[in-house]
Amino acid sequence: MGTALVTGATAGLGLEFAWQLATARHHLVLVARDAERLEEVAQRIRVVAGVDVEVLPADLSVREDLERVAQRLAQPGDQDTRPVGLLVNNAGFATGQRFVDGDIAVEEQALDVMVRAVLVLSRAAVGQMTRRGRGAILNVGSVAALTAGGTYAAAKAWVRSFTEGLAVELRGTGVTATVVAPGFTHTEFHARAELDMSQLPEAAWLDASDVVAEALADVRRGAVLSTPSGRYKAAAALLRLAPRRAVRAVGRYR
Ligand SMILES: NC(=O)c1ccc[n+]([C@@H]2O[C@H](COP(=O)([O-])OP(=O)(O)OC[C@H]3O[C@@H](n4cnc5c(N)ncnc54)[C@H](OP(=O)(O)O)[C@@H]3O)[C@@H](O)[C@H]2O)c1
Repeated sequence: MGTALVTGATAGLGLEFAWQLATARHHLVLVARDAERLEEVAQRIRVVAGVDVEVLPADLSVREDLERVAQRLAQPGDQDTRPVGLLVNNAGFATGQRFVDGDIAVEEQALDVMVRAVLVLSRAAVGQMTRRGRGAILNVGSVAALTAGGTYAAAKAWVRSFTEGLAVELRGTGVTATVVAPGFTHTEFHARAELDMSQLPEAAWLDASDVVAEALADVRRGAVLSTPSGRYKAAAALLRLAPRRAVRAVGRYR
């Protein structure tokens, strides 16, 4: 039984990661901004799954908060603290705006949460993991990384590229790095950004439980790239092969 730290654990994919990991007998450290909701989730998991759950309320776009989470990840473990063996960098959001006339502060916050936090937390975790000779990092990217979907796609392309480079550096250390690239998934993501998804056909949607189960299976087998579902594996293959002009013509995904 190991310990997993999940960011963005109060909703959507992060909440599902927390439940599936607890069911697989992992102790948990849960991170998100909403402290009350975080404690409710933690309490439910403690009672139902019988694992230990620490809560670490933090806004990952705030440097001091990020540093507290990094410090927890860097802890090698002693009689009071378990070392984190799996880091799930999941927290993220859609800006819900165009870059050219959008609020630059929102863009910076998105970059802080989906890029800087992933960088800082991965670095904090790999130190103790490589010293112990085991561990795994799972970064949540997106199929949007392969599209011309604005700054969100750019951030997720960074996550994919960063994770591949990290996986190369980690070869032979006993520590793995995986990036999961979900397609459209039923979570709070689109409503939070007030995105109108009514035109999207039902066949395009994935369930968070399926995405998380496939991502965790890919982590267990040490895969670097994880694209849950046959549908999105095919879509990703198409996006990789298609001329970029055609990809740009398809439009935005935020
Ligand atoms: N849903 C999709 O279609 C889809 C597709 C591809 C990739 N993804 C990616 O999947 C990941 C999870 O998204 P989701 O769909 O599960 O969204 P969600 O249901 O909206 O959940 C987002 C989680 O992130 C947390 N969070 C947001 N901003 C934060 C911050 N500044 N600091 C700490 N925690 C923060 C939220 O909690 P608090 O509000 O309490 O902080 C919440 O727990 C994201 O990286 C997203 O980009 C989603």
